[in-house]
Amino acid sequence: MTDAETVMARCDQLATCSDEPDRLTRPFASGAMHQAHELVGGWMQEAGLEVRRDNVGNLRGRVGPAEGPTLLMGSHLDSVRGAGKYDGPLGVLIAIAAAHRVRVPYALEVLVFADEEGLRYGTTYLGSRAVAGTFDSAVLKHVDRAGIAMADAISAFGGDPSAIGQDAWRGAPLLGYFEPHIEQGPVLEARRLPVAVVSAIAGQNRYALNFKGEAGHAGTVPMNGRRDALAAAAEFVLAAEAEARATAGLVATVGQLDVRPGAANVIPDDVDLSLDIRHAEDGVRLQSCGRLLEHAQDIAVERNVTVRVLPMTEHAAVRCSPRLTESLAAAVAQSGHEAISLTSGAGHDGVVMASLTEIAMLFVRCKGGVSHSPFESVAVEDVAVAIDVSSRFLELLAQR
Ligand code: HGY
Ligand code: MN
Ligand code: MN
Repeated sequence: MTDAETVMARCDQLATCSDEPDRLTRPFASGAMHQAHELVGGWMQEAGLEVRRDNVGNLRGRVGPAEGPTLLMGSHLDSVRGAGKYDGPLGVLIAIAAAHRVRVPYALEVLVFADEEGLRYGTTYLGSRAVAGTFDSAVLKHVDRAGIAMADAISAFGGDPSAIGQDAWRGAPLLGYFEPHIEQGPVLEARRLPVAVVSAIAGQNRYALNFKGEAGHAGTVPMNGRRDALAAAAEFVLAAEAEARATAGLVATVGQLDVRPGAANVIPDDVDLSLDIRHAEDGVRLQSCGRLLEHAQDIAVERNVTVRVLPMTEHAAVRCSPRLTESLAAAVAQSGHEAISLTSGAGHDGVVMASLTEIAMLFVRCKGGVSHSPFESVAVEDVAVAIDVSSRFLELLAQR
């Protein structure tokens, strides 16, 4: 089997590591993640990497000199609910394949991040934050839908929540952080290109909102006397969509909506919803956030309900390193392909790793740009190009 065929087969194997029987869902510190660690840890060892798991739950595999400059590379192993096979794992497996293929004078450390998506605790980037030394221990108290605190989940997974500070990179000087990842957008397919270098990653805010009204009988409470929390939330969802449609380059998404008490003949009085807002320019994003949160208050007054807004995460837009990106573009050209550059609307662990070292990302074409869906798909030929480009990139770094 070629390296690319091996990567594809391994993505298929990892897709069986799921906490849900009928779709791919692999949350932070879950049973599915344990299974995935068994597989990936074995493949890292086969590639000659010295493997360890850190306190927060990242897998880390090192090869090369014990001292001296190190290049970090990898991606995440956790997933969204109902995920595709490639968002995260493809980058991990390309990094392992490249680390196995090249011989460079500096050390390589493959990072397999524990939680990029934030599915289980509503946070994001737990694994990369631990490595970057920006982990906020306050989140250890967050509880998941089953009421399990993050600290307990980490301990149950075999980690040590009290020692996450020790996961922070204190080693030798870093050459940078490199992440191969599916594009999760339509440009490479439209341009008929296998890969692209990434110039920047959009900034994003995530909020948890709650509307509270008054439960009542669906058949007897007059329409003008209602304090309907779901109607208020619905008006807000459409307002978020309208704000994004009216603001060039802005995307706004309500992906979660929990309605209580949840009976067909009861007016809802308690509704939770998420809000995810992104833009390549921080000023535009923050202005839209301000407008929308103000609008939420106006809706609440208008409908005689209350609204509570809890900021969950905020990340400024991040530029990729011109130095590293120039070498990556040279590697793409050496591999025989046009090197175009794209900004990423999706967030990545590189957003956090940029606080530790310079970052570079390589996008791989995915069918229809589809992601966060079981219909995520990549071509083995494009994976072969990505492994070749990644390997050439590592070799070029040794010469520069
Ligand atoms: O939401 C994102 O952009 C990423 O998939 N976590
Ligand atoms: Mn991802
Ligand atoms: Mn994702």
